[in-house]
Amino acid sequence: MEMGELLARRLSRIEASDVREILKLTEGRQVISLAGGLPDPRVFPREELAEITREIIEEKGEAALQYSPTRGVTAFLEVLRGFLSQRGVRVSGDDGLLVATGSQEALFLAGLALVNPGDIVVVEKPTYLAAVNVFRFFQARLVPVRLDEEGMDTVELERVLREAEERGERVKMVYTVPTAQNPSGVSMSMERRRHLMELASAYDLLVIEDDPYSYFMFEETDFTFLKTLDTEGRVLYLGTSSKILTPGLRLGWAVGPEPIIAAMETAKQTVDLHSSTLSQFIAMEAMKRGIVDRTARRAREIYREKRDAMLEEMEAHFPRGIRWTRPVGGFFSFVYLPEGMDAKEMLPEAVEKYQVAYVPGYSFYVDGTGRNTMRLSFSFPPVDVLREGVRRLARFLQDKMK
Ligand SMILES: Cc1ncc(COP(=O)(O)O)c(C=O)c1O
Repeated sequence: MEMGELLARRLSRIEASDVREILKLTEGRQVISLAGGLPDPRVFPREELAEITREIIEEKGEAALQYSPTRGVTAFLEVLRGFLSQRGVRVSGDDGLLVATGSQEALFLAGLALVNPGDIVVVEKPTYLAAVNVFRFFQARLVPVRLDEEGMDTVELERVLREAEERGERVKMVYTVPTAQNPSGVSMSMERRRHLMELASAYDLLVIEDDPYSYFMFEETDFTFLKTLDTEGRVLYLGTSSKILTPGLRLGWAVGPEPIIAAMETAKQTVDLHSSTLSQFIAMEAMKRGIVDRTARRAREIYREKRDAMLEEMEAHFPRGIRWTRPVGGFFSFVYLPEGMDAKEMLPEAVEKYQVAYVPGYSFYVDGTGRNTMRLSFSFPPVDVLREGVRRLARFLQDKMK
């Protein structure tokens, strides 16, 4: 049988992830990977989770091991509402709430519920690769808007919106990671957040606020969630337990206008009926007992130390002519090499000769640019390994720029 003909065409729109390709390259070598963004396993509250899980199975097993509603376990939805409100995410009476299998599934369900082929979706430049793949899957037209240390440049966004309108086209939504962004680690300033919401109102846009990292910011930053600034029901907020408990639970959530959540619920019935009941019971208890808050505080200390170590090594050893972002939270720094350098072409040499891996940044650009950029993750390796990895990368860059 001809397998190529057997496979549905829709998947051909999705590029194989560079990260996976890099993993293949690193196999069997002593490579230090600054590529993938895995959480540090020291953050996982293992003993507490073991205790909770045993208790739940023994005492509430009948419900916790059973099928549950598509929207989520009712009691968990209640706890989640409180958790979100306490964190400053405004959940209004008109909002619906849906539990998903990671915020990645929430994004996919949003795509299923909202994106028709040809719809225009604005994304940051650079933006989160897996979101791009979702939008591509649903044949959206992706329009990038530049990002700097203050997040998405909303003046450029305004120009994009105006020009689209002049062409008689309509931008349907903006996808943003406004707080401690992936891949850059920067946050959108309050001024731009307000401007974005003004534009959303003026141009009748939906905004997807993807928020995996705001739980642990490295510095005291004063910011308000877009969801909270929104007074017109224009923001779909996505959250996750991946970075504050464990990604293995596969739990995320979406909060937003009820009709959108209802459509996502309908989609979810077809995709997986519901997210893991057991995971929801575990996350619910972890939230109630303050384990999530404690874990987020620990995560902040662990990742801040790593961020500082990475920045220190970069400042000490990276050659002149290279710029990088200073992450205010999250797992990543984004590096800009001099124009003309090609981080993707350089990668095999970095892995084979210098034993260090990174993600070429062009995959985070939807317009084919960004060849001279790379994403470095500081979240996973132990501090000394991380430092050595950055020094190896610095040696490689020094040799390439001689
Ligand atoms: C910006 C962003 N959105 C969504 C996710 C997906 O997280 P999960 O599916 O584990 O909730 C990630 C994970 O790295 C991310 O960085």
